[in-house]
Amino acid sequence: MQTDVNDRNVAVVTGAARGIGLACVKRLAAKGFRVAMADIGSPQLAESAAALQAQGWDVMTLPGDVGHFDAVQQQAALVLSRYGRIDVLVNNAGISQPKGLLDISEAEWDRTIMVNLKGFFNWCKAVAPAMLAQGGGRIINMSSISATTGGSAEAVSKFSYCASKAGVLGLTRGLAKELAPTVTVNAICPGSIRTDLTEALISANHDQILQTIPLKRIGTPDDIAVVVEFLATVNPCFITGEVIDVDGGQWVN
Ligand SMILES: NC(=O)c1ccc[n+]([C@@H]2O[C@H](COP(=O)([O-])OP(=O)(O)OC[C@H]3O[C@@H](n4cnc5c(N)ncnc54)[C@H](O)[C@@H]3O)[C@@H](O)[C@H]2O)c1
Repeated sequence: MQTDVNDRNVAVVTGAARGIGLACVKRLAAKGFRVAMADIGSPQLAESAAALQAQGWDVMTLPGDVGHFDAVQQQAALVLSRYGRIDVLVNNAGISQPKGLLDISEAEWDRTIMVNLKGFFNWCKAVAPAMLAQGGGRIINMSSISATTGGSAEAVSKFSYCASKAGVLGLTRGLAKELAPTVTVNAICPGSIRTDLTEALISANHDQILQTIPLKRIGTPDDIAVVVEFLATVNPCFITGEVIDVDGGQWVN
């Protein structure tokens, strides 16, 4: 995206019904983006979109599973037919997987990879042709500090989640080179962020987790969304293939 942000810009955010994704939608909409909100078909997606539309923001919903290649192709086509372009993709939809190697089934492993890694591929594949044809675009992939740390005893997810999120970093670096100089591709690694995904775990281990965070607070979805907004709008932009930890210093490396 070489031009200034204006009301023609369009973003797709996956996992947009709640949590970090919804915070990203709000930040981007407030910046003037028209936003397509992709999420599994839940009442929460419709409710979140309706609340934003009631505030006058131009958002559309894309109910469906990010892991289904054909469905994602159709969703991207819907966005292009309604808005005419896609400037920013925020690949954010993800699931946790708390089982260790001895307990996890093959189907559970496959599902983790299907949502957390193939879902990201599906959306990159669906938007890249439009971004290249229009001469610019930005892709922002939500990984996790677990990609590097391998998780911890208090982490909500174990090795299969870590593997999927490490895969997202490889996808990011490879596509940053492949889609340059037209499209930038960057990743964010959140630390402990309070959302529906982590609420029970953070509540149960609050003081213990706080001791691991130099900035001495649990993160909020907006702590991540503000960095997404930066990567989506900073102009000029000389950042691609980069991984930004947003974790209050939890993983200083
Ligand atoms: N919360 C944290 O501490 C934390 C830390 C590191 C990374 N992350 C990552 O950030 C992202 C968002 O996490 P969150 O905490 O907001 O989680 P969340 O569970 O609150 O929200 C995730 C959203 O993704 C949607 N989703 C799940 N599977 C889907 C699918 N197959 N197709 C379409 N939508 C689907 C859910 O319906 C939900 O709305 C995830 O990728 C997660 O792995 C979160």
